[in-house]
Amino acid sequence: MQMPTGKWWKEAAVYQVYPASFKDSNGDGLGDIGGLISKIDYLHDLGVDVVWLCPMFDSPQHDMGYDISNYEKVYEPYGTVEDIDILVKACHDRGMRFILDLVVNHTSDEHEWFKESRSSRDNPKRDWYFWKPARYDDAGNRIPPTNWRSYFAGSTWTWDETTQEYYLHLYATQQPDLNWNCEAARNAIYDSAMRFWLDRGVDGFRVDTVNKYSKPLEFHDAIITDPNHYEQPAAYMFCNGPRIHEFVKEMHDKVISQYDCMTVGELSLTPDPDHVLRYVSASAKQLDMVFHIDTGNMDHGGPKDKYDHRPFILPELKAAITKWQKFIEGTDGWTTAFLENHDNGRSIDRYASSEPEFREISAKMLAIMMTTMTGTIFIYQGQEIGMINAPKEWPIEEYKDIEALNYYNEARALSISGEDPSRLPIVTRGLQILGRDHGRMPMQWDSTAHSGFTTGDKPWMRVHDLYPEINVAKQVPDEKSVLSFWKRMLRLRKEYRDLLVYGIFDLLDPGNEKTFVYTKTGERRAALVALNFDQGVQDFEVSTDKEWKLVLSNYDAPVAGKLAPFEGRVYMSAN
Ligand code: GLC
Ligand code: CA
Repeated sequence: MQMPTGKWWKEAAVYQVYPASFKDSNGDGLGDIGGLISKIDYLHDLGVDVVWLCPMFDSPQHDMGYDISNYEKVYEPYGTVEDIDILVKACHDRGMRFILDLVVNHTSDEHEWFKESRSSRDNPKRDWYFWKPARYDDAGNRIPPTNWRSYFAGSTWTWDETTQEYYLHLYATQQPDLNWNCEAARNAIYDSAMRFWLDRGVDGFRVDTVNKYSKPLEFHDAIITDPNHYEQPAAYMFCNGPRIHEFVKEMHDKVISQYDCMTVGELSLTPDPDHVLRYVSASAKQLDMVFHIDTGNMDHGGPKDKYDHRPFILPELKAAITKWQKFIEGTDGWTTAFLENHDNGRSIDRYASSEPEFREISAKMLAIMMTTMTGTIFIYQGQEIGMINAPKEWPIEEYKDIEALNYYNEARALSISGEDPSRLPIVTRGLQILGRDHGRMPMQWDSTAHSGFTTGDKPWMRVHDLYPEINVAKQVPDEKSVLSFWKRMLRLRKEYRDLLVYGIFDLLDPGNEKTFVYTKTGERRAALVALNFDQGVQDFEVSTDKEWKLVLSNYDAPVAGKLAPFEGRVYMSAN
């Protein structure tokens, strides 16, 4: 087997930072760039190679900075462009790289481009966004140009009084979609959102909603799958639209190819590996890799019912992981592995157990899984210390996310009107497990007030009640902590990169509903990984085809023939 050609981003462990919640340096209760700079050594010690910072651009913060009003400015409470320069240097000085979020499917409605666009029908920037006339129903009522439901509930269209037309927004009203068909808009995006930062030394981008830039220009109604409502799930209509590959390719050729940088796209609704390859094959030159959302959405309900939680089924999770692990075999594409990000609940709660007796062992088992995956791995802040979801008792008032609140309010309205009283309990329960807020709670640094996240009186979001138990300061000196385990695993991953980063993945016993067992095969050696996803003890025998030697377990005294609750093991052998 030939080792794939070495690109720095292939072997990288990427660490995602959510600026509002990582570390507050000035006591205003909100995380900031200064706070992140003060923790760069912490990330370096952990074994992180690339820091990915979620949007820190100027923004009215309707969607936590994914609504950008100026790409070339930093949101003031977070800091300044010069602070980013310092941060980039701090990473580079330690041999680490630094990437930003690239959010160019939409801007904020407070972006100058949109303000101009909405000012009159003949403004030169009118067609930088999507404007459409109203339709009228049989009774003469004004209705939007299509029946599409937005990601954050409600319509994808908002009526604009000034110019008497609707504008399109796949997300919140305050996030109008840019019209990528307009060449001047594309060039402005390349300059303002990309070159501006790449020229300052930024090493690449996580590309937000990368397959939604090209909309089908006919703007047909979506098929009615929810007869009780006007708005219909329509993502299938605006993902992977007619010109999408042309746009992503142009972005690569005109901008990305001019720098030594990496791109990772957020790719939804693209289950077909052949199609994914069109984005990430090295020869296609569009993106370096993408997040395969089907693993991350495993326990979500359907397109409209995201928060109808359906507990994941292990064979399904294994199949999804296997699909993207094997994706690179025989192709020139690359893959990723992640379990958490800012759009999901914590992995311990979703895939293992956050009960006190299982919390740490679960975190370590999932760490074994992540660090033995082929591809580039992504760790989300707090995952390395085993942070868990907010307690179920927390009332809705503690939730801040626009998506959570819109879903909640929609369900509440259906309950109050008597239309569908079943929705509220379903959505409430879903939010307790899957809500985006769980990943957005302040980082738990130590056991002082507000978990050491802020020295001020009030963090912007409530700190987890368990922070005195789960925090960095407690785990750093403890060799048996989740944090120490992650460090050890990240070192192991580097040492055995031929196997763990590049090895051929093979799933064993696919139908087993309790254990996830796989091999990784390299040129000289092989690894066998066995993970117990259950609270009960499982029988387990290693295969006799090789002389497997146990390299590690998340238990002190692993027992032959058994896997303890949430135990994870790595064996190795010569090939
Ligand atoms: C992506 C982001 C999410 C955001 C959305 C709209 O999915 O990850 O946080 O709300 O795009 O920009
Ligand atoms: Ca601050």
